[in-house]
Amino acid sequence: MYRIAVIPGDGTGPEVVNEGLKIIEASAKKYNFKYEATIFDFGGERYLKTAKTLEDKDIEELKKYSAIYLGAIGHPDIKPGILETGILLKLRFSLDQYINLRPIKLYNADFCPLKDKKPEDIDFVVVRENSEGLYKGMGEFKDKGTKDEVAIQISYNTRKGVERCIRYAFEYARQRNKRKKLTLCGKTNVLTYAWDLWERTFNEVARDYPDIATDYAHVDATTMWFVKNPEWFDVIVTDNMFGDIITDLGAMIQGGMGIAAGGNINPHGVSMFEPIGGSAPKYTGKNVINPLAAICAAGMMLENLGEVKAGKAVEDAVIKVVKSKLKSLAAGKMGYSTTEVGDLVVKNL
Ligand code: IPM
Ligand code: MN
Repeated sequence: MYRIAVIPGDGTGPEVVNEGLKIIEASAKKYNFKYEATIFDFGGERYLKTAKTLEDKDIEELKKYSAIYLGAIGHPDIKPGILETGILLKLRFSLDQYINLRPIKLYNADFCPLKDKKPEDIDFVVVRENSEGLYKGMGEFKDKGTKDEVAIQISYNTRKGVERCIRYAFEYARQRNKRKKLTLCGKTNVLTYAWDLWERTFNEVARDYPDIATDYAHVDATTMWFVKNPEWFDVIVTDNMFGDIITDLGAMIQGGMGIAAGGNINPHGVSMFEPIGGSAPKYTGKNVINPLAAICAAGMMLENLGEVKAGKAVEDAVIKVVKSKLKSLAAGKMGYSTTEVGDLVVKNL
């Protein structure tokens, strides 16, 4: 019996999560597993009413669940940063979800903005470090508000934090069993402390994985190759900030935010799965947002819980719908409503 904590969150979050839950229900029937979904109201509306984001007792409660399924966090009436750090990053950090796993896979060449790229050309995974780096929130102002003001933002990288992420990426490349290639994406030519540590650790850990080919790319060059030669990549490992940036580009080459899913993974604890796009306030309540990213996130969650067949079946059903039904992956242009797309995936499952 899986206990799933559901946080629909803000904007279109609840709409896409509803479709994901439909697919989980259909998977449970087909693959014979039992689950129980509990809804939590963390998000912008609750913050406006109570001034509360996420408290330590909420984290303790969430630790009792098998996984967390999240819609979106972000509210137009709330200053940027409050909900992001108070809810999303707090969840990632306090549950020690130190891996952000973001698959970049093109399902239908018609939806790729790159010329002449086919599904077999765009099929890789970004392993983003999810607990340190610039996201650690370390730094300070000096002489704030004066003309001599200095703002310092620190990238905090521990050997242990870097190593556990790199090891995860090597293991992932091994079990993914595609090209058995792992690329370290960094900036060794400029950020000479952080990326020195990352590179040394990468090279040391690589010795334990002689079956995995290794490669290095600077982050700026990585963005160039995402556009020019995405077929070069199998698994990429990178830090928190670079991972954030390159996975938005990755989402675009796989067809857009409407299809991009991610998992915040604690391999020994509670993981959280989410569509990587935001709360899309302008589409809220219109039944036009693409639910496929949230559905793919549900599939990743099932796979992570151990329902590997169900997870794969969800992805296959999504592929069928993307290939044979949808006119576009963009909100309002799919040729179907949010709920209809959910129903199509259920039918194909
Ligand atoms: C993401 C988002 C978040 C991040 C924001 C909302 C804090 O952009 O999941 O990629 O920067 O990690
Ligand atoms: Mn992002």
